[in-house]
Amino acid sequence: MNKDLISGFDLSVSDINAIFSLAKKLKKQKNSTELLGKTVGLVFQKPSVRTRVSFEVGARQLGAECLYLAPQDIQLGSREPIKDVARVLSRYLDGIVARTFSHTHILELARYAKVSVINGLSDLYHPCQALADVYTVYENAGKFKGVKLAYIGDGNNVLHSLLAVGAKVGLSISAATPKGYEPDKEIWQEALKIAKKTGTEITHCYDAMQAVNGADFVYTDVWTSMGQEKERKKRLKDFRRFQVNAKLLEFVGKKYRIMHCMPVHRQEEITDEVMESKSSIVFEQAENRLHVQKAVMALLIK
Ligand code: CP
Ligand code: NVA
Repeated sequence: MNKDLISGFDLSVSDINAIFSLAKKLKKQKNSTELLGKTVGLVFQKPSVRTRVSFEVGARQLGAECLYLAPQDIQLGSREPIKDVARVLSRYLDGIVARTFSHTHILELARYAKVSVINGLSDLYHPCQALADVYTVYENAGKFKGVKLAYIGDGNNVLHSLLAVGAKVGLSISAATPKGYEPDKEIWQEALKIAKKTGTEITHCYDAMQAVNGADFVYTDVWTSMGQEKERKKRLKDFRRFQVNAKLLEFVGKKYRIMHCMPVHRQEEITDEVMESKSSIVFEQAENRLHVQKAVMALLIK
């Protein structure tokens, strides 16, 4: 496995399998000693419920100490050069989980840090989320081959990571986004290349009804990500045909499960009714962040 987890593209299929099999074991065994005597630092530029709490609790359950460094503490990228922060933190910590605005901040941190850097969300990727999501798909479907996940909404960090991890494991993904909100072209091409090798299908369209047809999982994320708050009004308008609601779900045509990375903005990207329905596995997904990230930390942090 590489030193860092920056995007799903960093992982080989055997890395992903190793993460999933350890996650399965750790899910049954709450406390263990893989990281006894280690200290993990969380360097965050943005707010968080799931990522912060699951990493902190997870590190402790593995026997490590954990430090949460809030945006005003480190002031990553503004108080001093990131390469200096990386080298100093490497002398205190055994692993760093970073949540940043700019993806280049994570890259720079990882480049200069001697210890492992795990991406806890940047504007470009959210690999730990996608690992937990794809693990949740496997728990529910028991396989990846022939399983289709429809992603409805913004071509953002969450979709990018789903594409990377999904293509590697052979999960089929059909994404629908409004015009102007497509996934990053290079990431899309990279995912397509991998999908060709793994023999799975990755498609994009501008029609949510078309994308959900025949899906086993229907996934959505917020329309306005952290850092995009100024665009909220425009986004509410641009995304109005991309809400996951009962009417859209009529076009699935089979049994489906609803997924969302959370936080949920009810009545925007998803209706309250769908979010609270029996098909929703949103809280399973959130719980799996803990188990999957424990496996990531146990395998990466030396
Ligand atoms: N899904 C997710 O990363 O949630 P938080 O922003 O609360 O960490
Ligand atoms: N796309 C969202 C994900 C939140 C977990 C954001 O970046 O804010």
